[in-house]
Amino acid sequence: MNTEKQNIEIEPGIDFVEQINYLKKKKNAVILAHYYQNTDIQDIADYIGDSLGLAQQAEKTNADMILFAGVHFMAETAKILNPHKKVLIPDLNAGCSLAESCPPNLFSAFKAKHPNHIVLTYINCTAEIKALSDVIVTSTNAVQIVESYPKEQAIIFAPDKNLGAYINKKTGRNMVLWNGACEVHEIFSLEKLLKLKFQNPNTKIIAHPECEAPLLEYADFIGSTTALLNFTKKPENGNEFIVVTETGIIHQMQKYSPNKKFIPAPPNNNCACNDCPYMKLNTIEKIYLALKNEQPELILSNELINKAKLPILKMLELSKKFGL
Ligand code: 13P
Ligand code: SF4
Repeated sequence: MNTEKQNIEIEPGIDFVEQINYLKKKKNAVILAHYYQNTDIQDIADYIGDSLGLAQQAEKTNADMILFAGVHFMAETAKILNPHKKVLIPDLNAGCSLAESCPPNLFSAFKAKHPNHIVLTYINCTAEIKALSDVIVTSTNAVQIVESYPKEQAIIFAPDKNLGAYINKKTGRNMVLWNGACEVHEIFSLEKLLKLKFQNPNTKIIAHPECEAPLLEYADFIGSTTALLNFTKKPENGNEFIVVTETGIIHQMQKYSPNKKFIPAPPNNNCACNDCPYMKLNTIEKIYLALKNEQPELILSNELINKAKLPILKMLELSKKFGL
């Protein structure tokens, strides 16, 4: 919906939080939000989490309707797990550069070139790529899932080459990597990061594994958004952090630890912090309109849902086994 049409549809003086809560109750809807959402969205969500937590919540929700405040591939996962429920996404243009970096036709050809390989795919991919995969992983469970396969098992890992390289290093594997990346995590400036660390010597650098290897070399801790958040909560890990991931997570870090200091790592441009342009397309106004109009709705064919569901269920089953 364009901004002009959206403004016409919004009643003047409306209290968005009150209206969203009213619509949620009336329609038995749940709002699932990723940590990278704008802070006002994080504050009205029923559940806020990383990709694994969100998939787990989507699997177990009793709501009739899911409003997914995240990006398209995340809403697709919720739909795949709930084919009979209405899944709404505030802005259908909320895509993902990493998911886009792996087109299904090219990936099919890549797969064909590597017979005898199983396909492990990061959840940040389209439903079509999931349908071509054996098991899905997230940044929370990737290392454990890879290690659950025998060392001699040949593996294709897609689409994030940085996460793949990190897992290869951590597990001593040699997975074949698809050449994809997240534009948000690749734009951090190593030079600016080191300067920041020099100016703030008591800080710990905490980074997401979607970042490039040279930068991860300097991290005191590497983990998924939930793992980074949990790290900052522990008193023994200190009081000052340089956070090398999307800035949205800092809202939760600051909420849990109001007296600690969180510095966003700077990107390789003139900005002081780093926002995902896709995640940030969602707004509280769009959430209100989506709940009110029950649009935009995420639609997938039954055939695609059935194919993509198996590797997602496998991931959820393995995560449960690992106590995640
Ligand atoms: P996690 O949610 O697994 O930490 O991944 C971060 C991300 O880039 C989501 O788009
Ligand atoms: Fe995609 Fe990167 Fe944005 Fe996550 S942060 S949604 S991986 S572009």
